[in-house]
Amino acid sequence: MEAKSLTMSSSSLHLFQVLLFPLSILLLMSNMQKISAAATTKANSTGTYKNFIKTACNTTRYPKECNKALSPYASTIKTDPQKLCDTALSLTLNATCNTSSSIESLSKMKGLSPSETEIIRDCSETVGDAIDKLTDSLKAMARAQGSKRRTEMGNVRTWVSAALTNEYTCTDEFEGQKVSKAVKNTMKKSVMYLTKMTSNCLALLNLLDY
Ligand SMILES: *[C@@H]1O[C@H](CO)[C@@H](O)[C@H](O)[C@H]1NC(C)=O
Ligand SMILES: *[C@@H]1O[C@H](CO)[C@@H](O)[C@H](O)[C@H]1NC(C)=O
Ligand SMILES: *[C@@H]1O[C@H](CO)[C@@H](O)[C@H](O)[C@H]1NC(C)=O
Ligand SMILES: *[C@@H]1O[C@H](CO)[C@@H](O)[C@H](O)[C@H]1NC(C)=O
Repeated sequence: MEAKSLTMSSSSLHLFQVLLFPLSILLLMSNMQKISAAATTKANSTGTYKNFIKTACNTTRYPKECNKALSPYASTIKTDPQKLCDTALSLTLNATCNTSSSIESLSKMKGLSPSETEIIRDCSETVGDAIDKLTDSLKAMARAQGSKRRTEMGNVRTWVSAALTNEYTCTDEFEGQKVSKAVKNTMKKSVMYLTKMTSNCLALLNLLDY
């Protein structure tokens, strides 16, 4: 019973994100432009850059995680939405690689139950797939110039979105099962952080004009 409701709530959240997200983005894009414009007229400062990231992150589902991950890169990102997305994507890919190695160590743990072994194997596969999609996205992002921009950025969004869907199948699977504390803790720390980063990355991509 409980397992079922957990799975359902996570997919309805996902649905919410897909359906309602564009609305909030429209509202917040004007805000971003204002901040961008302010930055070009006033002297630039770290404060301005951090504020830009904060406002952009405010459009995501996990603003706190978004801000914490991106604000160390404020001096690189400045007030450039494209740089913001490049950095978010690169961080998401790096987090995915980290998750992959956490899952790898988990799979070597002794005393795993057959269902835990199965969940870990499935997650390893879906996270591996996410790495491929995010790697392709990062390459497409680098190519997204001039007349190719629209197509490439469309691809990036499709792939990042697919990576997120993959990651959700992993969290849904382990949330719905009885797993040991050790397995659950690793998964929580690693895969859930990853889904947050990916979800945020997708939201930031939606802020780009192309
Ligand atoms: C502030 O940053 C913007 C964009 O990053 C840049 O176009 C502008 O020239 C900068 N202004 C100053 C005063 O450095
Ligand atoms: C974030 O959004 C909330 C409401 O959506 C708003 O009240 C708040 O001022 C925003 N914060 C920033 C830093 O933009
Ligand atoms: C991601 O990892 C690569 C390789 O380890 C590194 O060069 C890059 O700077 C990292 N990305 C970010 C945004 O820190
Ligand atoms: C990946 O793991 C390394 C080493 O634990 C850590 O320094 C880094 O911040 C992690 N990267 C991300 C994006 O979580």
